[in-house]
Parts: sequence; C-alpha cells; structure tokens
Amino acid sequence: MAKQWRVGLVGVGRGSGYGRLLAEDSRCDVAAVCDQSPDALARFQEGLALPDDRCFLDYDEFVASGLDIVFVGTPIPAHADQTIAAMDAGCHVLSEVTMSNTLEDCRRIVEAVRRTGQVYMLAENCIFWHFVDQWKDLVEAGKLGTIVHAECEYLHPIPSLIYDPETGEKKWRINRPPLHYCSHSLGPILDMTEDRIVRACGMGTSRKIFDLPEPGAIDMQVALFETQKGMTIKLLRTSLLPRGKGIHRYCLHGTNGFVETSQDGVGTGLGRLYVHGESEGNQEIDVPMNDPTLPESARAGGHGTAEYALLKNFIGALESGGRVRIDESRGFDITVPGIIAHESALCGGEWMDVPSAD
Ligand SMILES: NC(=O)c1ccc[n+]([C@@H]2O[C@H](COP(=O)([O-])OP(=O)(O)OC[C@H]3O[C@@H](n4cnc5c(N)ncnc54)[C@H](O)[C@@H]3O)[C@@H](O)[C@H]2O)c1
Repeated sequence: MAKQWRVGLVGVGRGSGYGRLLAEDSRCDVAAVCDQSPDALARFQEGLALPDDRCFLDYDEFVASGLDIVFVGTPIPAHADQTIAAMDAGCHVLSEVTMSNTLEDCRRIVEAVRRTGQVYMLAENCIFWHFVDQWKDLVEAGKLGTIVHAECEYLHPIPSLIYDPETGEKKWRINRPPLHYCSHSLGPILDMTEDRIVRACGMGTSRKIFDLPEPGAIDMQVALFETQKGMTIKLLRTSLLPRGKGIHRYCLHGTNGFVETSQDGVGTGLGRLYVHGESEGNQEIDVPMNDPTLPESARAGGHGTAEYALLKNFIGALESGGRVRIDESRGFDITVPGIIAHESALCGGEWMDVPSAD
C-alpha cells in the first residue's frame, strides 16, 4: 500500500485550499494545522474537521508533531524561517509563493535544502495551468522558432489587503513592492522556455493611490529582463491601480511565430497563435486553465485544476524519488529577478546582474 504522508499545513487561506485537496488524497493524511491567530485556527479546524490535538498556535510544536510534509501558506516574510525549521525537523516542504522577500533568505532556503536533503517545491500554481503545458510543447517542437522576447503581466488591484485608510492599519503586503510578486508571471514564461534570467532592470516608484513610504504603496512597476539564452522579457505588475477584475497575460514571440493570451487575460476568452508557413493569419486559440483529463473534484484548490496538478507533481516526485517541477533552484530563478528588479528601480533603473542558486 502507498505510504500515508503525514502533512501539516501552516497559514489558513491558502492552507485551506490545499487542505481540501489533500483530505481527498488517499496517499495523504492532514495530520496537523497551524495558524498564529486563534480565530483563523478555529476556521482551519472546522473546515477540515480536525480534532483539537491536531491544531497548533505554536509553529515549533506543530513542526515537532511528527510530520513528513509541511505546506507553508503564511505571508512571504515568514517563509524562510518556517521552511528551514521544517526541513531541520526532517520534513519536505511545499511553500507558497514567492520563495522569500530577500535574496539572503532565498539563499538560506537553498542552503537548507542541500544540507538536509529534504525536498523543496515552490507552489507556483500558474505553471500548472493547462495552457502552459500546451505552449511548452509548442516551444519544444520548435513551432515558434527561437523565442526572442516574452511579455507577462499580473495586474490585480487588492488595496484592502495592503492598507486600510479608515483605520490606518498596514497589512504585510505594505512591505511587498509590486515587482517582488513576480513568480506568477515569470514562472510560466521560464518554465515554457526552460531558461533563467541573468540581468534585470526595473522602474516605478510613484505612490498616487496611497501616499505612504513603504514599497507596497508603489502604484505600478515594470521590469525588463535578459535571459541566459538571450531572450528579453517585459513584466508589468500592480497590486493597486484600479481595473475591475485582476488579470494574468502572457505572450511569446519567436523567429517563426507568436502565441498570446487574450487582452483580458487568462480565463477570459480566446488567445492568438501564428506559425509562419502553417497559419493563414493569426488563429484564435483556446487558452485553457483546466486540464480536461482531471476530475471535477480537482478544482477544489482555488485556481481551477492548477493546485491539484501541482500536488500531483509534488507527491508523485516524493513517491518516485524523481524531481519536482519547481525545486529550490527554479524557485530561486522565478523569485530573485523581481527582488533585483525592484532594487534596480530604487537606483533609477540601472541594469543589475541576477545570481543563480548554484
Ligand atoms: N498562489 C496563489 O495563487 C496565492 C494567492 C494568494 C496568496 N498567496 C500566497 O499565500 C501566502 C499567504 O497569503 P495570504 O493572503 O493568505 O496571507 P494572510 O495575511 O491572509 O495570512 C494567512 C494566514 O497566515 C497566518 N499567519 C501569519 N503569520 C503567521 C506565522 N508567522 N505563523 C503562523 N501563521 C501565520 C495568518 O493568521 C493568516 O491566517 C503568501 O505567501 C501569498 O503570497 C498565493
């Protein structure tokens, strides 16, 4: 019989979505949950119908409760310490995005993975949208030729999660510059092209919505990147500028054609594909988020079938001893460019080198 993985989840919210999927997975036992807020912990307990002795306010006690896997679903500044403590306690870690908010902490996570031999995966769910696999196949088959430029945008106004002007309460995202939250955008692009970023420059420091000194009050930022294979990437990010519904957009330009999502973003209509020599003009294409081969219950994670496919990859790799799709090196590769690009924005947009994890 397959091993029962004892999984612990920290951080209600994202933890609950993964908890619902894990509770349905016969290979996994939701063995413990943790949240520093008693109210949130009570919600966690109720949502997953857990007994009191599986619910922890204290992270150290939670990690010491005999777990095989920890899902880290807390705010980004907590990721490094919680990930490292879990790995030191002999647990594999699946961590919410991004890897961390500082280059030093990303390096500490990589060091801990290699020192402990535990498996680490960054839970970048956008990489598990179904069209990413389809576009990856297009790139691998050479249909688009050599990819020379890519564009990605994540425009998602969430001002109430940043600052409450009525009470003056600042939330943890007040310290997150827009470009730090880059993995939803760079993750799919770098996964499809199997590339990594080597140089970055960023722009954007205006604060017209919230006149506050913290970087989370920056209205919008744009970054340009250069990759090891010589591709350029443009990334546009806001967590503040109003636009109704949030959107993710992606586009790849190659020497033989291009592919792009709809102007209104993934999940809202048709994209476009042009393959020189095959297409008459630009073809309208589906850009599916969901893998049609997965069951209806696979949508419980929060973003279509993405979280289900992500868990399938992670648990599958643990069982087979194979590689996870977004290990510590790739987690570093899709997090650190945004950290460096923001540093560049603070220095007037000068080009800066982006280190690798190795
Ligand atoms: N992949 C996605 O689509 C997606 C979407 C939203 C958020 N996220 C990520 O999920 C994480 C959580 O974001 P959120 O919006 O749910 O945050 P949040 O502020 O709602 O916090 C989540 C929970 O963590 C708890 N918490 C905070 N610090 C803790 C600590 N040190 N120890 C234990 N519990 C703690 C809070 O009480 C809260 O219940 C972040 O890393 C964020 O980037 C990912």
